[in-house]
Amino acid sequence: MSLITVEGGRRLCGEIAVQSAKNSVLPILAATILSGDVCVIRACPRLRDVETATEILHYLGCDVHWEADDLVVDTATVDRCDIPENLMRQMRSSVIFLGAILARCGRADMSYPGGCELGPRPIDLHLAALRTLGAEIEECGGCLYCQGTHLRGREIVLSIPSVGATENAILAACGAEGTTTITNAAREPEICDLQDFLRKMGARVNGAGSSTVTVEGGARMHGCEHRCIADRIAASTYLAAAAATGGEICLREVNYRHVSTVTTALAQAGCRLRSEERMICLSSSGALRGISPVRTSPYPGFPTDAQAILMAALLRSHGTTVFVENIFENRYRHVPEFLRMGADVRLEGRVAVLCGVEKLCGTGVRATDLRGGAALVIAGLQADGITRIGDIYHIHRGYTRLVENLAQLGANIRYE
Ligand code: UD1
Repeated sequence: MSLITVEGGRRLCGEIAVQSAKNSVLPILAATILSGDVCVIRACPRLRDVETATEILHYLGCDVHWEADDLVVDTATVDRCDIPENLMRQMRSSVIFLGAILARCGRADMSYPGGCELGPRPIDLHLAALRTLGAEIEECGGCLYCQGTHLRGREIVLSIPSVGATENAILAACGAEGTTTITNAAREPEICDLQDFLRKMGARVNGAGSSTVTVEGGARMHGCEHRCIADRIAASTYLAAAAATGGEICLREVNYRHVSTVTTALAQAGCRLRSEERMICLSSSGALRGISPVRTSPYPGFPTDAQAILMAALLRSHGTTVFVENIFENRYRHVPEFLRMGADVRLEGRVAVLCGVEKLCGTGVRATDLRGGAALVIAGLQADGITRIGDIYHIHRGYTRLVENLAQLGANIRYE
């Protein structure tokens, strides 16, 4: 299963349910540590990053096992407060364990997290937030040694509404005495999901979804059951794939508000969209047009995670579309791979200018990162001939059943 092979030219038609959100489930798995009890994550997606999170939980002394599609995590027996470097390196989100372990154990030791696939990804805001709460953090030889036996609630002001720093601050604040206010907090739906989960465990967290989140620390926590929200980026991926292939699909479980910037862009490109409370349907003639500039920004703006995916859908559109990547410095690594397929995209720093071409040609390409890999699948679905995508471990970090779902919708796609 080291390659995905796609033969282009099939319309995608049908209905599928969208997996739970990777970016919700990872901080929620870290948050289970605060319960000291049994938590059940319903319909937990079996992703490589989830596997890494379960390895971290195991290492910390937790009992973690699958019951069908549910992940059962018992954190009563946590007996360590460090994470080894090999686990930290596997995914960037391992850093979210910092706030949770600190709140639970009063100490946390780990190396810097891995993953610089999108350019430099500092954690200065995470550390500043924890220091504001009173943690003493020593940085030495790529390792972090954090002490925080008496964390106190304070006002944390984030200079950027960082998703990860907001999550880390919320988790650490749960273990602090008194009230913490996080100003300029990230407003992503995954922050709301984390708040919902923490409240089920007994935590007192308010304001998620707005720029100000408050946490009254020190609440007694207990186990709970939770099903994470649907993955808005996976949903965007299927919508973009259907748009590019002239398809007609419906996605179940999706909150249409969470994908509204993506659906607005696809509607502007010529697709018809219909949404109900937990369902989105798209139909496309396959003849898309270029759209007004797409600028990535924090939620509720256009998500950086959907930039490569929308670009892939527009590769054969009529006209020009400008993309401006405002979140990460190096998030166009999929573009040279698109060029190998005959696309016309010019890069200038944070700007990409796409001119639609009449046809794309299947060839061998490499997934360069998670969403860039999914974007190559979308390019392959509309290319002439066969596209072989290598390095698909990136794709497995965030998608369950991508190949199976696309095949179910009529794509000619398989693992090789
Ligand atoms: C999360 C998502 C990722 C998404 C990103 C932006 C998860 C697991 N990952 O990543 O899929 O692409 O949000 O929507 O939820 N920054 C700093 N210092 C910090 C932290 C961040 O300068 O301490 C900068 C980053 O370099 C970046 C920006 O802030 O330019 C936003 O990053 P952030 O929101 O923190 O992204 P992640 O939480 O890493």
